[in-house]
Amino acid sequence: MLTYEAAKELLEKFGQEHLLKYYDEISDEEKAELLAQIELIDFSVLENLREENRFTAARGKFEPLGAVTIKDIENNSQKYNSAGIDAIKNGKVAAVLLAGGQGTRLGFDKPKGMFNVGVSKELYIFQCLINNLREVVDKSGAWVPLYIMTSEKNNNDTIAFLEEKDYFGYNKDYVKFFVQDMAPSVDYNGKIYMESRSRISISPNGNGGWFSSLVRAGLLDEIKDNGIEWINVFAVDNVLQRIADPLYVGAVISSGLQSGSKVVSKAGPDERVGVLCLEDGAPSIVEYYEMTEEMRTLIDENGELAYKYGVILNYLFSVDKLETILNDKLPVHVVEKKIPYMDENGNFIKPEKPNGHKFETLVLDMVHMQDSCLAYEVDRRKEFAPIKNASGVDSVDSARELLKENGIQL
Ligand code: UTP
Repeated sequence: MLTYEAAKELLEKFGQEHLLKYYDEISDEEKAELLAQIELIDFSVLENLREENRFTAARGKFEPLGAVTIKDIENNSQKYNSAGIDAIKNGKVAAVLLAGGQGTRLGFDKPKGMFNVGVSKELYIFQCLINNLREVVDKSGAWVPLYIMTSEKNNNDTIAFLEEKDYFGYNKDYVKFFVQDMAPSVDYNGKIYMESRSRISISPNGNGGWFSSLVRAGLLDEIKDNGIEWINVFAVDNVLQRIADPLYVGAVISSGLQSGSKVVSKAGPDERVGVLCLEDGAPSIVEYYEMTEEMRTLIDENGELAYKYGVILNYLFSVDKLETILNDKLPVHVVEKKIPYMDENGNFIKPEKPNGHKFETLVLDMVHMQDSCLAYEVDRRKEFAPIKNASGVDSVDSARELLKENGIQL
């Protein structure tokens, strides 16, 4: 365990001595807790604040990437469906629900999956997702193992809620939880925030660490022992999300490519969505803010946007490949967020506006570590209803509308 002197020396090296400002005033137990937190901080993430270390500075050469279109999928539906159902029936497919985020934009205090989108009845986000997955269970006759990633901030609430709701009818023997890592949050001057006199402000470090966290939780052995070959990773907030979708699984397996990503046709050149493309010949996702005007508006030989396919955070990765990239470093993104903190007068503040940075690795960067990726087009009105905001774009209101359009009673 770190001593006070060693902690002080370490913090001085990184210009973070203020974390010990209240050390003399806190109890022995709090002192130990604070030193333990300092010991766990990965200070190297702070390096990413320096402009020259920003990830966006070093991107390769982008080129458009085509997709299997909705039409192609219709034409091959029997073939894809039987390949997918076969894989699911044989226990080769598992799902990973990324539910470690804080959902700050939605402004809901509990885990996002506990949000009730129902109007005249209860319909929780977790329930929507589980209902969708149960359709696949009904079709294939096999339970799909579901691994849920939480963070230390929402793990207990998530488990208690799903227990209380009896996993919305899912077989709980097939549900496992694992907890992701955390990273410190900083103000605009790069100083780590404190939450109280003895607690450092830490937050989930992005969804990119899902596989390493799953491995650390000891779940890889059972995945391999059970013969799982494919993992479908998806976000908690898309209530129309199809999980372990047999057609998608079948299309990726039949294509012989190493991975898959569901995509939607962009609503227009300025839609703020990451686009699946090629970067230096390998699959990659270019964020909307990284695209030049020329890339955004480029038209292909069919008169359509060349960079057309937006990602919806639904990927299919092979376990074999995931193992080979386990120790490869993902880029760290510096993200502007609202960070609750303790001000200089000792008051706990929940800011209304972004007030600093968090450090996150992102699952989308794993796509660039794949040799190949099948872009699989889906109809956004049937499969894409993200709940990011309380109102407006990608909100509770827009998701409700889409749920209703798909015949789901609210
Ligand atoms: P978002 O990028 O929407 O982040 O996450 P968020 O933290 O949930 O929400 P905001 O930005 O604060 O409003 C996309 C998906 O990745 C998961 C989220 O739970 C969601 O399913 N995620 C995000 C994690 O699992 N861990 C993280 O650290 C961040």
